[in-house]
Amino acid sequence: MDKFIINGGKRLNGSISVPKAKNSYLAILAGCVLSSGVVTLHFCPNFVDIHKMLEILEVLGCKVEKKDNDLFIDCRFIHNYTVPNEIAKQIRSSIFLLGPILARLKKAVVCYPGGCDIGARPIDLHLKGLKSLNVEISERFGIIECSAENLKGNDIHLDYPSVGATENIMMASVLANGTTRIFNCAKEPEIVDLQNFINKMGGKISGAGTDTITIEGVEKLGSVEYTPMPDRIIAGTYLLGCATCGGEILVKNVEYEHIYSLITKLRDAGLEIEIKDDSILLVSNKRPNSFNKIETLPYPGFPTDLQPQSLVLQTISNGVCLVVENLFETRLKHVPELIKMGANVLVKDRIALVSGVKELYGTEVCCTDLRAGAALTIAGMVAKGQTTLSNIHIIDRGYDHIENAFNELGADIKRE
Ligand code: EPZ
Repeated sequence: MDKFIINGGKRLNGSISVPKAKNSYLAILAGCVLSSGVVTLHFCPNFVDIHKMLEILEVLGCKVEKKDNDLFIDCRFIHNYTVPNEIAKQIRSSIFLLGPILARLKKAVVCYPGGCDIGARPIDLHLKGLKSLNVEISERFGIIECSAENLKGNDIHLDYPSVGATENIMMASVLANGTTRIFNCAKEPEIVDLQNFINKMGGKISGAGTDTITIEGVEKLGSVEYTPMPDRIIAGTYLLGCATCGGEILVKNVEYEHIYSLITKLRDAGLEIEIKDDSILLVSNKRPNSFNKIETLPYPGFPTDLQPQSLVLQTISNGVCLVVENLFETRLKHVPELIKMGANVLVKDRIALVSGVKELYGTEVCCTDLRAGAALTIAGMVAKGQTTLSNIHIIDRGYDHIENAFNELGADIKRE
């Protein structure tokens, strides 16, 4: 059951709801460790990375209960500061458990994290930030051992506005002595969501969404009931699916500001988009024009997590598009697979030049990473004939059976 059989050429019509955000939920699950009370989280999405994060919390000594889509997480009796290697090396978010575990247990041990194979994905900014908070760190054989008898607030400047490093340092600072300011921090909506979640537990964080976040250390955090933000990348994936295949869809439960960069590009390409409260209506009834240029940047720039799906749209759009992937060194692995489907793309390092063709044709292709998998699913949906997409378990890391959502809208995808 690790491949899709996709019969292409179907237009998409109907409405679809967006689940809560993987990349917010993962940071918030790490943030649960900070609480000396019980955390209730609503609308937990069914993503493999979330299941793995919950497994880690249980190994650390947290109690995790699930009732329907509600999670009840009790970290009051957390006692194990070592994140299990076999799970940690499968997901990127294991690394941002360092901060909260240190804050509670004053020690933390984790191996180098896993995550999508889209680049080197160093953690130097995480470790440099933690050292600024008086954390002692030793690294041996890929294992990071941290201890912090006395976490102390400090001013920290990030060389790069790293999402994970910002989250890790934020969480390490919440129970520290004194105030921490993070300069040149990430401004993603998921950072704002994490701030709101921690403040609801009694934290004192301000500035999330700007390039400087201030965290005033507090004694302890209490219980909280919280609903994380919607998944802006899944919302964008649905919109790009319809823009590519044609049709008319209403994407519900989304915050349009979170993907305004994509909405602007889609409108510039001649697609009709109407924003209605927490929904976005997209009408695609003619061949779109090219985006001309996609340059991935930290938020609020164009999101790297929508680059692969957007590149697929460019393969069948009018004109030429220059795609520059600024965040990750090897996030163009979907291109060789698209070329097998008849796409006309030239690649040099992190740059792709896409010339729109009349149509793609179905063939056998393979998922290389999460968002490339979503992109190749869309490519199969628009291609003439049948596409076999293998390695699809990777897509389940960040989508709850992506085929169900697209089939609800009229696609023809079978999981085999
Ligand atoms: C988060 O990854 C997301 N993952 C990624 O989503 C997303 O693509 C990325 O942010 C950028 O928005 C989660 O939230 C779990 P970064 P993260 O640290 O934190 C460099 C998906 O598909 N860097 O902002 O790993 C790094 O090399 C995934 O859902 C350092 O140099 O991203 C990269 O070039 C993929 N040193 C850039 O920063 C560090 O210590 C952005 O990385 C950390 C990062």
